[in-house]
Amino acid sequence: MFYLRERKKRLEMGALLFRQQQEPAWFVSLAILGALHVAAVAFRILSHLVLLLRRPTDLCHRYGAWAVVTGPTSGMGRSVALALAQRGLNLVLVGRDPAKLQDISDTISCTYAVQTKTVVVDLALIATPQGDEALRLLRHAVAGLDVGVLVNNAGLAKPCAVYLHEADVEAWVRMIRVNLWALTEVTAAVLPGMVERGRGAIVNIGSGTTLAIPSFPLLSIYAASKRYVAQLSRSLHVEYRGKGIDVQCQVRTWGLL
Ligand SMILES: NC(=O)c1ccc[n+]([C@@H]2O[C@H](COP(=O)([O-])OP(=O)(O)OC[C@H]3O[C@@H](n4cnc5c(N)ncnc54)[C@H](OP(=O)(O)O)[C@@H]3O)[C@@H](O)[C@H]2O)c1
Repeated sequence: MFYLRERKKRLEMGALLFRQQQEPAWFVSLAILGALHVAAVAFRILSHLVLLLRRPTDLCHRYGAWAVVTGPTSGMGRSVALALAQRGLNLVLVGRDPAKLQDISDTISCTYAVQTKTVVVDLALIATPQGDEALRLLRHAVAGLDVGVLVNNAGLAKPCAVYLHEADVEAWVRMIRVNLWALTEVTAAVLPGMVERGRGAIVNIGSGTTLAIPSFPLLSIYAASKRYVAQLSRSLHVEYRGKGIDVQCQVRTWGLL
């Protein structure tokens, strides 16, 4: 009898101790949230590592044999055109200066075994009779080509560091035409072929002004035009992914623009 009572007492004490050792619910919930967060971060790091270690995609095979690059005559556009040529893509080079276009075309042809075509388009004249004619030439140039990649790189940041009311209105209009209107028109010119072939990639060059900072005074129109590019890219990505077309907006931040 005594033995049984002792045993019951010990069991009750054990249960009490166990209850006291249990962590409170808020602590357990926080621990679960923390573990989920760590898992999400680890997953993101791992997927980046996988992307880094993956062999480069064969762009010709994945998207098509030709790429269209706007603004390939200097800066990033030139580097992109050379990089695509290095990866075996033929190029349609779209720019406003025939001599500069010829220069980049010659450089590519001398260095890589790919074909090039040049199309002279002043993108600031989009939505004018001259611009319409130039776009017609672009449509004609890409008709029948297996265009797999479009890089909408051409962009204007000038006028910069001025109040809206102080700048020349014509200059704003040129910026808006090049940065968003022309980008949309060139995209619309290349898309039908991509849709028909069921594959393609469109890379729009955005800007850190749309990401890093909530407002960008004295560069308001530029920042707003690049926000348009980012939003258009997001929406087109969803609109066209089912048709085999990838759309992305690349953002440069080192120069802050
Ligand atoms: N630089 C930066 O720090 C920075 C930062 C973020 C984003 N971005 C963006 O990255 C892209 C390239 O910048 P970047 O610094 O390499 O520019 P860039 O050196 O000034 O080159 C711009 C290119 O666009 C062409 N272009 C300009 N206006 C044109 C027009 N009306 N018609 C046809 N082509 C025209 C230029 O042709 P011409 O040679 O004939 O002038 C040139 O090939 C732009 O979209 C820019 O907004 C740049």
